Amino acid sequence: MSSIKKTKKSNKDILQAPKGTRDIRDDFFYQLQGFYEKAQEVAVYYGFSGISTPIMEHTELFLKGLDADDDAVKEMYSLTTKGGDNLALRPEGTAPVMRSYIENGMGSLPQPIFLYYHGPYFRHEKPQKGRYRQLHQFGLEVIGSPKAVLDAIIIQTGYQILKESGREITVKLNTLGDPENRKEYVTELKKYYKKHIQELGAQDQKRLETNPLRILDSKDPQTIKVNHEAPTLISHLNAESKKHFKKVLEYLDAGEVPYELDHTLVRGLDYYTHTVFEYATVLDKGEGKPLALGGGGRYDGLAKAMGHNKDVPAVGLALGVDRVLEIAKKGAYSPKIQRKPKFYFIQLGFEAKAQAFGIIETLRERKIPIKHSLSKDGLAAQLANAEKLNIPYTLIFGQKEAIDKTVIVRNMETRKQDTIAIEDLRDYIKKLK
Ligand code: HAM
Repeated sequence: MSSIKKTKKSNKDILQAPKGTRDIRDDFFYQLQGFYEKAQEVAVYYGFSGISTPIMEHTELFLKGLDADDDAVKEMYSLTTKGGDNLALRPEGTAPVMRSYIENGMGSLPQPIFLYYHGPYFRHEKPQKGRYRQLHQFGLEVIGSPKAVLDAIIIQTGYQILKESGREITVKLNTLGDPENRKEYVTELKKYYKKHIQELGAQDQKRLETNPLRILDSKDPQTIKVNHEAPTLISHLNAESKKHFKKVLEYLDAGEVPYELDHTLVRGLDYYTHTVFEYATVLDKGEGKPLALGGGGRYDGLAKAMGHNKDVPAVGLALGVDRVLEIAKKGAYSPKIQRKPKFYFIQLGFEAKAQAFGIIETLRERKIPIKHSLSKDGLAAQLANAEKLNIPYTLIFGQKEAIDKTVIVRNMETRKQDTIAIEDLRDYIKKLK
């Protein structure tokens, strides 16, 4: 960074994670991991392969690809390096994946390319429920074909990942047509809004000049009233665009993916053409306003907008993992790794402590995870730790057991104890509930 200045932050401020970010720990750490495991598994079964792009990209990649008025661009964290480059923390994953496709010549491989990715993304938004400055996404992109069947496979794959949450998932769907359709439509829309400018909310009056399409998904109650009578894009679609959208709907029907058409859905990012969609869940009472759990669409013009010499047709989505985990049923995305070991390992005496390393390794080889407090000596202190952690069994390893190559298994609830040869431990453990 060119110059790093000290600010006058208090120690209290410095010792807190930056606003809108949080530590990933405890249950959330494992839920996040479990979600990524499940989502990857579904993606792999549907034919996708993994990719991971850098956290930073050239700022211009997003400026060119996403349009200056896009939310993601306005909220970008950008910095100037010592060498004078402008880099940005990635606000989203589609432009970076398309950059990688172009840079690595993936266009010369059999098309299309199916890719999935996941990780942190950064947007300088006002933090609130379900809105973070460091957010987590799981994304899917199919690059290199304009076919409608791929729009449907993307929607279907995302739907199946979200269904694993145990909640009812709905898909909202719309088409933005091709750029020609859109241009004609935007002209008509502008005319309509100009007639009603006094009735629009303040922010939407400004949007009339910068991005009139976004007025359609305004949350302002005044604007919502005006939108009831606004012209719809569906009525401006040309024959090709209509055919494309009709096919997407037919494939979704065949896959039994439930969807609702929503002509006000335009999405925040400017690169979309044809199909756009968002996922939500049917909310239980008291859960507040529905937030989009994810969304995406077709973006045939992005590659050229980013400076490539030709169009590359593509379609994709990103799921908002933070939000999905907030609505998921308990245990829905459990990771494969055991989060709460069933055993607490207690060692007593010098000989036992010295052999403990070997025992822990033997247990690991037999896939028996444990918690322990090797730094402690007394039985009472170690038992108290096991109790605090609510671990159902302890493995007690004292001088005698060290000589006999055995271990005492103690049920913490019933206090029943068995002495078991270490080599029989795995079979014994299998029989415990
Ligand atoms: P997006 O709609 O900007 O699309 O983000 C996708 C999802 O990320 C949202 O539906 C939401 O669940 C989640 N999300 C966005 N911002 C936040 C935030 N501040 N805090 C928590 N969650 C958030 C994209 O990013 C496109 N790249 C999707 C795409 C892929 N289109 C084509 N391919």
